[in-house]
Amino acid sequence: MKKFKRYLITSALPYANGPIHIGHLAGVYVPSDIYTRYLRLKGEDVISICGSDEHGVPITLKARKEGITPQQVVDRYHEMNKKAFEDFGIAFDIYSRTTNKIHYETASEFFLKLYNKGEFIEKTSLQYYDTEAGCFLADRYIIGECPHCHNENAYGDQCEKCGSSLSPSDLINPRSAISGSQPVLKETLHWYLPLDKYEPWLKKWILEEHTEWKPNVYGQCKSWLDQGLQPRAVSRDLDWGVPVPLKNASGKVLYVWFDAPIGYISATKELTPEWEKYWKDPETRLIHFIGKDNIVFHCIIFPVMLKAEGSFILPDNVPANEFLNLENDKISTSRNWAVWLHEYLEEFPGKQDVLRYTLCANAPETKDNDFTWKDFQARNNNELVAILGNFINRTLVLTNNYFSGRVPEPGILNNPDKEVLDEISRLTKATGEAIENFRFREGLKEAMNLARLGNKYLADTEPWKLIKTDPDRVKTIINISLQITANLSIILEPFLPFSMKRLREWINLSNFTWNDAGKTELLPPGHQVSKGGLLFEKIDDETINRQIEKLMKTRRENETVSAAASPLKEPVSYEDFSRMDIRTATVLEAERVPKTNKLLKLKIDCGTDIRTIVSGIAEYYEPETLVGKQILIIANLEPRKIKGIESRGMILMAEEPGGKLVLVSPVEKTDNGSVVK
Ligand code: 2FM
Ligand code: ZN
Repeated sequence: MKKFKRYLITSALPYANGPIHIGHLAGVYVPSDIYTRYLRLKGEDVISICGSDEHGVPITLKARKEGITPQQVVDRYHEMNKKAFEDFGIAFDIYSRTTNKIHYETASEFFLKLYNKGEFIEKTSLQYYDTEAGCFLADRYIIGECPHCHNENAYGDQCEKCGSSLSPSDLINPRSAISGSQPVLKETLHWYLPLDKYEPWLKKWILEEHTEWKPNVYGQCKSWLDQGLQPRAVSRDLDWGVPVPLKNASGKVLYVWFDAPIGYISATKELTPEWEKYWKDPETRLIHFIGKDNIVFHCIIFPVMLKAEGSFILPDNVPANEFLNLENDKISTSRNWAVWLHEYLEEFPGKQDVLRYTLCANAPETKDNDFTWKDFQARNNNELVAILGNFINRTLVLTNNYFSGRVPEPGILNNPDKEVLDEISRLTKATGEAIENFRFREGLKEAMNLARLGNKYLADTEPWKLIKTDPDRVKTIINISLQITANLSIILEPFLPFSMKRLREWINLSNFTWNDAGKTELLPPGHQVSKGGLLFEKIDDETINRQIEKLMKTRRENETVSAAASPLKEPVSYEDFSRMDIRTATVLEAERVPKTNKLLKLKIDCGTDIRTIVSGIAEYYEPETLVGKQILIIANLEPRKIKGIESRGMILMAEEPGGKLVLVSPVEKTDNGSVVK
C-alpha cells in the first residue's frame, strides 16, 4: 500500500438545524474519531476537520416555522453541536461553520474558477414558482404526492416515506410549502456541473482504481455510474446561502451540496496557513467519513468538482457507514425518535465511553443495525464491567496488596506465560490492522480479547492461591498482567479515550505511542502504580427501563399527534362530492394477484353488476376472510389496468396513522348497490 506523508480526515458536516443523536455518532463521528486518534498515536501528521453545514432549505423552513432568522437557527445548533462533540471526546482539530466569511470567500472562488474554466453549462429551465409568495420553490419548498408510494407530503427532492429520490416535476399535485398555493412554471437560469462529461473518468477512478472501497460504497457508486450521470444544477433561487458570484445572478445562491464539501477546505484554511499541503500535495491521504446518504456527494459530485478545479487531491477512501435504528425503528428528528447526546449526558453523566463502546461494538459498518437500551446495558455490564473493568481492577488491587503498588520483577517464564506474551503482540497488531482497514468493530473486539485473555490468565494461574507458597511465581503473573493492562490503555485509547486516560493516570504511563503496543516491558520493574478504582459501573434495570419508557411515551405521543394532525383537505362543493358514485357492495371472491405482495383481485357484487376491483389490501387481509363481507366502493371511478387486470372502481378504506388500511362497511346489512350520500 502507498505510504502517505500526512492525513486529512473529514467528517460530514452536520446540518445546524437540530441536535446530534446516536445515529450521527455511530455512523460518522465515532469511526472518524477512532481513526484520527489512532493516527495521532502513531505519530502521523493528521488533521481532523468538521463543522456545521448551515445552508439548505430545511434550515430556512425551520426558521420560518419558528418565526426567527436562519442565522438564529444555525447559531443555536452550531454551539450546541460543537459542545456535544467536545463532550463526547470527538477530537476535531477544528469545528468550523459554513456561514463564516472565509467559507463564503472560498466557495465563491471555487465556483468562479470552474466558471472561468468553462466547466459549467448555463441553462434556462422551467421551475415551480409561488406567485403568492413571489419566489421560486427549490427542493423542500415544494411538496406533493409521491408518484411511488402516494405519500401526500413528499418533498421536491425526496419522499421521506418510501425514500425515493425525486425531482419537483415528479410530484403529483405540487403545492408550495410557503403559501400552500398551486405553483406555476416559470423560466429561470442556473449553472450545471456536467457530471456526464466526467463519467468515463469516474468509472476508471472508482470502478478500476478503488476496488478496495467498502462494498456498500463501491456498490452504490457502481449503480449510479451504471445508470448514467446527468448534469446537475449547482445553484438555486433562494435567499439563504452563498450568493452565486456573478453579475446576472441576483437572488441565486450556490446549492447547499455544492458549498458544503467546500466547507472542508475553508475549515482547513481557517485552521492552518499550511492548508495547501493538506489539500494539494498528492502525498496527503484524504479520507471522508460519512453516512450512506452522502455517498453520491462525496464519491461522485465532490470529486468531479475537485477534478474540474484541477489543483486539489481526491479522496483516497470514503468509509461510509449504513444507518443505525433505535429500538427497531428508523431514527427521526421530526418524530423525536432518537437518543440525543445532550440528553444522554444528563442521564448518564460521565458515561461517554459506554455509549462510544456500544455504538462501535454494534456499528452499522456493513448493514443497518439497531441500538437497543437492553443491548447497551448488556454491553456495559457484561463487557465493560465484567471483562475490562474487572481485569484491571483485579490486577491493580493485587499489585497493591502484594507489592505495595510496585511492578514486580518477572521470574523465569513458563510456556503459558510465553503464550500470553505472544498473544499480546498478536492482538495489539490485529487491533491496529483492523483500524487501518476501517473495521472498527473488529478492532474493538480484538482489543477486548486482550482483556479477556488477561482474565483467563488470572483465573488459570490463581495468584491469590500461590502468594503464600510461591511468591516468585506471583511476581511473574502480576508483571505480565500489568503489561497487559498497559497495552490495553494504549490500544483502547481510540475507542474509550476518557477511561483510558484515567487508567493511564492510575498506572502512571505517560510517554507512549501506538508503536509501543505489543511491548511487554511497558511498565518496568519498580514502577509505581496506584490502586485505581472502578473504571465502569453496573447499570441497573430500573435505569434502563426508564429510558425504554421514555421512548414508549414518545411513540404514544407520535401516534396521537399523527392521528390528530392528519391535515384536512381543502373544502369541496356538494356538487363535487355528489359526482362520486359511492355504493354498497359484497365481496364474492378474493385472490392474491400473482407476483405482488400488496394486491388482491376481488369479484364484487355491486347491485348493478358483478365486476372486478384490484385493491392494495393484501398486507392486511387474507383473501378468504373477505368473502361475504359488505363494503363500500366508488363505482364510477374510471377503469384502470393494474398488473394487466382491469379494475373497475375502488374499495373505500380508512388509513390508520401508522399506515394500516382497514375496510369500511355499512353499520347494518344493506342491499347491494345502495347509494351512499
Ligand atoms: O447529510 C448531512 O447532514 C449534510 N449536512 C452533510 C454534508 S457533508 C459535506 F459535504 F459537508
Ligand atoms: Zn414515496
